[in-house]
Amino acid sequence: VTTASSGEHLWIIGAGRMGLAVGTLLNEAGALASLVYSGRRPEPPPHPLFSEVQPPARYSPALTLPDHAPTGVLIAVPDRSVPEVAGRLSRLTLSTGTAVLHLSGTLGVDALAPLAASGCSVGSLHPLASVAGTVDGPQRLRGAWFGVEGAGRARDLAERIVEAAAGQVLDVRPGTKPLYHAAAVFASNYVVVLLSIAERLMSQASVSENDGREALLALANGALANVAAAGPAAALTGPISRGDEHTIRLHLARLSAADRDLYSLHARQALSLAREQGLDPALAQRVGYLLGEDA
Ligand SMILES: NC(=O)c1ccc[n+]([C@@H]2O[C@H](COP(=O)([O-])OP(=O)(O)OC[C@H]3O[C@@H](n4cnc5c(N)ncnc54)[C@H](OP(=O)(O)O)[C@@H]3O)[C@@H](O)[C@H]2O)c1
Repeated sequence: VTTASSGEHLWIIGAGRMGLAVGTLLNEAGALASLVYSGRRPEPPPHPLFSEVQPPARYSPALTLPDHAPTGVLIAVPDRSVPEVAGRLSRLTLSTGTAVLHLSGTLGVDALAPLAASGCSVGSLHPLASVAGTVDGPQRLRGAWFGVEGAGRARDLAERIVEAAAGQVLDVRPGTKPLYHAAAVFASNYVVVLLSIAERLMSQASVSENDGREALLALANGALANVAAAGPAAALTGPISRGDEHTIRLHLARLSAADRDLYSLHARQALSLAREQGLDPALAQRVGYLLGEDA
């Protein structure tokens, strides 16, 4: 345990990918007076936080209050377990006003209702970052945006964590988390899905895997840069944006039935952007017809 006299006495429930990433980040930022993890396994996971000569963190296999009263608590367990952990925490004697945050993208602050009822200041802090391993986590969090819900001390704790990450706060209104999180899924997970479809089609077109990936990534990065510069409507290029019926017909004719459906689904969204760009309405209607849009 660090001997710093100022800073957060942080208790993190769940020594998984995100819990370890946030703890490491705060430890490296010198923001912690003490750091305790509670997990379900008898031993801590293999991680530098627990394995250095003077480990910066302590690990407990039980959900019991740390020796030093925590000033902040992070619930870093899978979403489905957050309500159960919140219920169990509410039966411990946390000091009134202790800040408690969960890290879920979809759950609202209401998942911590029993803790709010027992006098804690509750909120949520959702890193808009993808942490897939246990060591590269802090890197993913640096400079990231964080969806933040809650007020008072919970908000203060969230802001201190965002500051340690040199990140940015994205205010999330109560009751909107599922929509907010669906947006994040589109921007992250479904970009990955679209690139996997594009790679598959490139390989069907006999392009080598390496070349296909590099070419598509360069193309995708350019599209992202265009969105960054001017927003999606202005960034859209390609056959839908030009209302190029002939090209769209050629695409549809060569795709499998399943890929044709995927193509048309996205193309209809592209067409609404093209309409925003001012595509000729009669042309847009003909393209829409090709794509199965209702008349
Ligand atoms: N990873 C990301 O990229 C990411 C991004 C944004 C937000 N988040 C959020 O972060 C939270 C944690 O996700 P994660 O990706 O870190 O999951 P994870 O890697 O699966 O880690 C979850 C940890 O919680 C432990 N756990 C489960 N139930 C517990 C309980 N009742 N008491 C104590 N520990 C318990 C698990 O232990 P066992 O191994 O024993 O099951 C595991 O160590 C979730 O709310 C998630 O939505 C994650």
